[in-house]
Amino acid sequence: MGLMKKLRKAVLPVAGFGTRVLPATKTIPKEMLPVVDRPALQYVVDEAREAGIEHFVFVTGRNKGAIEDYFDRAYELEYSLREKGKTEIYDALDADTPEAGTMSFVRQQSAKGLGHAIWCARDVIGDDPFAILLPDVLVKSKKSCLAQMVDAYNNVGGNIIAVDAVPEDRVSSYGVIAPKSRDGRLIEMSGMVEKPPMSEAPSNLKITGRYILQPEIMDILKTQAAGAGGEIQLTDAMATLMGEQTFHAYEYKGQDYDCGSKIGYFEAVLAFAKDHPEIGAEAQAMIKRFSA
Ligand code: G1P
Repeated sequence: MGLMKKLRKAVLPVAGFGTRVLPATKTIPKEMLPVVDRPALQYVVDEAREAGIEHFVFVTGRNKGAIEDYFDRAYELEYSLREKGKTEIYDALDADTPEAGTMSFVRQQSAKGLGHAIWCARDVIGDDPFAILLPDVLVKSKKSCLAQMVDAYNNVGGNIIAVDAVPEDRVSSYGVIAPKSRDGRLIEMSGMVEKPPMSEAPSNLKITGRYILQPEIMDILKTQAAGAGGEIQLTDAMATLMGEQTFHAYEYKGQDYDCGSKIGYFEAVLAFAKDHPEIGAEAQAMIKRFSA
């Protein structure tokens, strides 16, 4: 299999407006909406860390300053927590603060699509393989979704995308793969297509928003023409890369929640609340009362 570079970097595109959950996202980045007591984005960073990611590249846009501040130290707050002896809360905050120099922020000045957003990170990615995590999507699983993919990557190398079966009437909202053959959770593909009409979808396996890609994708993205929705699509560039490099889909174990939509966000809050170490038992009792 040859030498394989360790996966150290991840790109998180966070420039989107969050129009589906307005007005909540008018002044707060959608990635910062709380799922119980942590911003949605913190779950995604935790998922990536569990997979061994050491450097995060955020592709940001206007009105996303709260994200950078969130990953900075908050001296007044930390001082006052220590002063009041609230060591547990202080320690938890401290543990979430990234090591200096491990986060980069690049700007996508105009909304030209996911493919363009990823391309904006090219200088920081350089010649390294990298992960992409779309922070709208939270995946709840025992072993983190990206960590499962890294296990597969360490076996087969190349490029890997997470996929998951959805009801047929949902396929037109996603990138969809054409499976060829399967070895356990690993799937060989003959193609992939972005937001196909239901009648033209090659399967019901949707691309979930977790990717491990080789840096050559950046060269393809550079000249990638606009596709579905008039946007530069990552899926179109991956379909090209598939003709040149090893490329697998991986059916991960876990449940995904689309926090970019009202109902998906609500479901995520329920799912994480019911297993929360502090409020889990109460939340479960409450959910039962609502469904009675
Ligand atoms: C993006 C990708 C799509 C993927 C989806 C997962 O679409 O383009 O292939 O299936 O994320 O959530 P978006 O949701 O940005 O329209």
